[in-house]
Amino acid sequence: MSSVGIEAIGLAVPPTYVDMVDLARARNVEPSKYLEGIGTTRMAVALPDEDTVTLAARAAQAALASAAISPDAIGLLAVGTETGVDHSKPVASYVQSLVGIGRRCRVFETKHACYGGTAALQLALDWIRSGSAAGQKALVICSDIARYGLHTAGEPTQGAGAVAILVSDDPKLVSLEPHKTGIYAHDVHDFWRPLYSKDAFVDGPYSVQCYLDALAGAYQHFRDKNPGVTSDAFAALAYHVPYGKMARKAHRHLRSLDGDPTPDATFDRLVASSLSLCAQVGNIYTGSLYLALTSTLATSPTPLDGQRIGLFSYGSGSCAEFFAGTVTPGAQDRVRALDLPALLDARRQVSIAEYEQVMAERESIDQRPLGAPAGPALRYLGVDANKRVYQPAG
Ligand SMILES: CC(C)(COP(=O)(O)OP(=O)(O)OC[C@H]1O[C@@H](n2cnc3c(N)ncnc32)[C@H](O)[C@@H]1OP(=O)(O)O)[C@@H](O)C(=O)NCCC(=O)NCCS
Repeated sequence: MSSVGIEAIGLAVPPTYVDMVDLARARNVEPSKYLEGIGTTRMAVALPDEDTVTLAARAAQAALASAAISPDAIGLLAVGTETGVDHSKPVASYVQSLVGIGRRCRVFETKHACYGGTAALQLALDWIRSGSAAGQKALVICSDIARYGLHTAGEPTQGAGAVAILVSDDPKLVSLEPHKTGIYAHDVHDFWRPLYSKDAFVDGPYSVQCYLDALAGAYQHFRDKNPGVTSDAFAALAYHVPYGKMARKAHRHLRSLDGDPTPDATFDRLVASSLSLCAQVGNIYTGSLYLALTSTLATSPTPLDGQRIGLFSYGSGSCAEFFAGTVTPGAQDRVRALDLPALLDARRQVSIAEYEQVMAERESIDQRPLGAPAGPALRYLGVDANKRVYQPAG
C-alpha cells in the first residue's frame, strides 16, 4: 500500500481566553513566571455552553471541510479524551450525529490520559494499512478541557481545545512511518482524576520526571528499531506540550540522550515553531501534541517539504510513544490556508472574575438545566431526562 498518514487537520478552540498577565497578577505571581517559566501567554477558557463534545464536533467539521469530503467517507470515528461526558456513551457517538457521519462506521472513545488520541491514531493508521478500511477514511479527534482548579500549581497549565485528524492513504499533510515506533508504558501515579472529581490530581514535579523517563524509554525503543538514527535525522520535532516549558525540557533531555553537549542549541531550529499556537491556547491534553504539529506546519519558517519529523506523545499513568513521519510537499501551504492565527486572534478576552465564575458554573455542568435552543451551532444546551442535549449544526 502507498503511504498512510494525515490527510487534513481541523482545530477548535473556545472563543474565550484569559490573559496570563492578568492571571499572574490575580495570583500574586510575577507575570514572567507564567509567560516564560510556564510558556503560556493566553489560556483558553471554555464557557458553560462548551464541552468535550462541542469542541470535538467543531474540530471534526473543520477537518472535513478542509479536505472537502463528505461525512459518508468516514468508516472509523474515534475520540481520544480524558474529559469525557459519560461513563458509557462515548463522546464519539454525539459527534457522529452532530456531524452527520453514517451508520456503517466504528464509533468509540479511547482513554489513556494525554496519550488517548495517539492510541486511536495508531489504531486508525493500522486499520488503513491492513486493508480493512477498503477505501474509507478514519477520523480521530483529540478533545479535552484541562482543569486543575483555582489557586493550584496546575492552574496556569489549563486550557481547552480539540484537534481532528483525518487519516487516510492520501496523506496530504504528513505520512506516518509504520512498524518502527518506540513505545514505553509504566504504571505510575503522576496525574489522575478519580470518578468523583472534576479537578485532576497531580504530583507536578513527579509528572515532569515521569514524562522525561517515558521520553527516554520510548526514544531508546525507537532507536533500537531504527539503528544509527539520532534526532539529527529530523527537520522538526513536536513533543507533547502540557505547557511550553515542558517541550524545552523534553528537547534538552532528548538531545542529551543523543550525546549532544549543547542540547539547547537546536531548540529554536527544531522545536520553537511547534509552540506558537500552544502558547495561545494552553494545555489541551490529548490534542496538545497535534496542536504542536499543526503549529509547526502553520508557522515554521523552514521549508519542510519531504522532510522527516519526529513526534512524541506522553500520557500520564503512563504510556508514551515516539514516532516519525514525512511532511508531504505543499503541506505547509495547506495548513497556512486555514489561517489558524486569525482564529485565535478572533477570540474574546475574559476577566479573571468571569473566568472564576465560569469555573464555578462548570462544577455542575453535567446537570445543567436545559436551556432554550439559541445562539451558535454545536453548543451544549444542558440535560433533559438525564440526556445531554446539543444545538445541532447550523
Ligand atoms: C508545571 C508545574 C509542575 C509547575 O509548578 P510550579 O510549582 O509553579 O513550578 P516552579 O515553581 O518550578 O516554576 C515553573 C518554572 O517557572 C520558572 N520561574 C519561576 N519564576 C519565574 C519568573 N519570575 N520568571 C521566569 N521563570 C520563572 C521556574 O524556574 C520553573 O522553571 P524550570 O521548570 O525550568 O525550573 C505545575 O504547573 C503543574 O503541576 N502542572 C500540571 C502538571 C503538568 O503539566 N505536568 C507536566 C508533565 S505531564
